[in-house]
Amino acid sequence: MRRVSAPYIAGPTLDDARRTVVSLNAEGKRATIDVLGEEVHSEAEAQAIAAAYADVLAAIATDGLDANVSVKLTGLGLKVDVDLCRSLLETLVRDAAARGSFVRIDMEDASCVDDTLALYRSLRAAGLENVGIVLQAYLKRTHTDIADLRDLRPSVRLCKGIYVEPSSIAFQDHEVVRRSFVSCLDTLFEGGSRVAIATHDESLLGESLARVASLAHGAYEFQMLLGVRESRAGELVAAGHPLRVYVPYGQRWYEYSLRRLQENPQMAGVIARATLARAIGRS
Ligand code: FDA
Repeated sequence: MRRVSAPYIAGPTLDDARRTVVSLNAEGKRATIDVLGEEVHSEAEAQAIAAAYADVLAAIATDGLDANVSVKLTGLGLKVDVDLCRSLLETLVRDAAARGSFVRIDMEDASCVDDTLALYRSLRAAGLENVGIVLQAYLKRTHTDIADLRDLRPSVRLCKGIYVEPSSIAFQDHEVVRRSFVSCLDTLFEGGSRVAIATHDESLLGESLARVASLAHGAYEFQMLLGVRESRAGELVAAGHPLRVYVPYGQRWYEYSLRRLQENPQMAGVIARATLARAIGRS
């Protein structure tokens, strides 16, 4: 598992993440740093994750990195105590604001969506602007969520969605998910949202490139995962597009990788293919 996961995780320590971001920045790529540690079961664990994020924000400022942070709310205790989670998240976002940085709230499985959107809305109501959310194109509710959030002109990372969800709430067909992605993208741009287009899917990259051609750089960026389609990411940067790489680090790499595989067994094939492509010099 360690060997298979290695290209996708910066390493166990913050210094590993710093080094990774320095080299990404040197290639003209921005980064967003994720502290591995979702699904904590106690207040103490949630506090520890929050403290790790404070260290990340400090490191970004000290090193002058072109990076922000991505956070999973279950890591800040969403399933332990919503009020604790809100308090830790608000402290993190205020810390980031004071440093001129930004916090992206990752979206987890469907049981987290209502609470995540409510917490996001409450931060915005408190006047915090340096925070964004993630919406998943595979969820049937996402079009309604976009309409409900329109008054906030949210900063949105749009992705397909990684969790295994039932057909009652999530599109299962790959083409339908792609169509939903494109239509969500159109609606978000129409509503004036800044969109982080998070995909490695060539057909979605093509659809997105056609749409961003007439947009200012501040209106969008592409996002990819560390270790995935790196040469394609380089091409986007070379063509002048803003691109951010998701950089996970932490001691809990094993749980993270295992959970990803358990949640989506197809990832095993995807990872194996990417490893093979890497071995024979393609990506
Ligand atoms: P698709 O799965 O079709 O991948 C297209 C191609 O990219 C594959 O054929 C393969 O070549 C390559 N590829 C994709 N993933 C790979 C991998 N892990 N290893 C090796 N090769 C891979 N989801 C979520 O539910 N909540 C979230 O908050 C986020 N956040 C997020 C941030 C960023 C920056 C990205 C890029 C993605 C996410 N995701 C996510 C994950 C997202 O929902 C989705 O599961 C993956 O991006 C895979 O979908 P693609 O659109 O890339 O297409």
